[in-house]
Amino acid sequence: MDKITAIRGFKDILPEDARRFWEVEFIARRVFNSFGFREIRTPIMEKTELFKRSIGETTDIVEKEMYTFADRDSEFLTLRPEATASVIRAYIEHNMSADQQITKLFTIGPMFRRERPQKGRFRQFNQIDVELFGEDRPQSDAEIIFMLMHFLTISGLNNLELEINSLGCPACRPSFSQAVIKFLKGSEEKLCPDCRRRINANPLRVFDCKVEACGAIIANAPRILDFLCSDCENHFSQVQSLLNDLNTSFNINSRMVRGLDYYTKTAFEVKTNALGAQNAVAGGGRYNGLVSDLGGPEVPGIGFAVGFERLIACLPEEGSNKFKTDLFIAALGAKAQKMAFGLTNELRREGFSAEMDYADTSLKAQLKKADKLNSSFTLIFGDKEIDEKQVLLRNMQTKDQQTVPLDGILEAIIKIIKER
Ligand code: HAM
Repeated sequence: MDKITAIRGFKDILPEDARRFWEVEFIARRVFNSFGFREIRTPIMEKTELFKRSIGETTDIVEKEMYTFADRDSEFLTLRPEATASVIRAYIEHNMSADQQITKLFTIGPMFRRERPQKGRFRQFNQIDVELFGEDRPQSDAEIIFMLMHFLTISGLNNLELEINSLGCPACRPSFSQAVIKFLKGSEEKLCPDCRRRINANPLRVFDCKVEACGAIIANAPRILDFLCSDCENHFSQVQSLLNDLNTSFNINSRMVRGLDYYTKTAFEVKTNALGAQNAVAGGGRYNGLVSDLGGPEVPGIGFAVGFERLIACLPEEGSNKFKTDLFIAALGAKAQKMAFGLTNELRREGFSAEMDYADTSLKAQLKKADKLNSSFTLIFGDKEIDEKQVLLRNMQTKDQQTVPLDGILEAIIKIIKER
């Protein structure tokens, strides 16, 4: 019979990696909590309209990458391609702005984009997403960026490059868009069909085009930073000065526009040289008009998302990440097996990891299993040791062995494991 495999671009997270995921999640929760962020969990599916209205109808995500289908009652639903829209929907729906002026939220979970799979790019991937509502001052931009860099660093990443830009606001961006349209029209016939279409539909999206010929043209396009109004310019220069105060180094990349339409003012990306082509480990920015565009109050917002798989891929390989067993019980013979079964489960109940071999194989085979399970100690006994009320405890690393009285064995073993 044919094997059924996972869907292309959807991948299993195997136990060794799953462990890394929860270790990083643990760090994320601790860091975000210390900056005042609380966790929210939203559904992985939303009404399609939510993403069209927030991410933008003419973005790659909405045009080409969403998993959208008609539900049985013909309502269009979409597997979320990102978390910002869902978090905002929940923020509005639960009237969170009434509670407090500033709301800080984070969420961790799977996102879905039908992109071409390659190293670091999947169709189901996980994001660690952070959103801050109700504060427009540059301090909140710097706080968010500082927290992101701190989180990535203590998770174990190095050689990170932070790029920032300002994307302006409704007051100044239209003049930039006009200048870009004018510029692109001058080279229209040399652009790829997608970019030609983008000139009128969404000119800023040409900055994301991966076609080489387009890249060469766009290199000479006008720069957003030359078009900022005084409010945006002021904001951007304060963000830079605050980042300097926090010793957070950055480069300004005036070509960075981000792949989603909702950004205003500050935008940022974190790149690493450990990932190959898919080098963005995180991205985010300010979105001051989005909450109201989605039917909520006039509340500014800023946030970012970290690509969880990309973060994990950047971590150095570590032996200490291997799964460990505290104790393996090598029980030889029926009586020993029965006693070992009780002891194994008692230990587990006390919070220690314990394993045994129900197959009652040879001592050599059982010690091999203990090694495979990376166990710190192995307790060895057969019927003879039970009669003599003495069992053997082997330290699997040093290979030292000691006898331990059977009376009070559970307490004795726990003591030894704890002292290790
Ligand atoms: P984004 O830049 O589209 O932003 O995605 C953020 C991060 O998710 C990327 O930097 C990357 O690490 C990861 N990522 C994106 N697509 C894939 C993929 N196909 N496979 C693996 N990893 C991927 C957002 O999603 C915004 N919602 C971020 C944000 C939050 N802006 C404001 N608040």
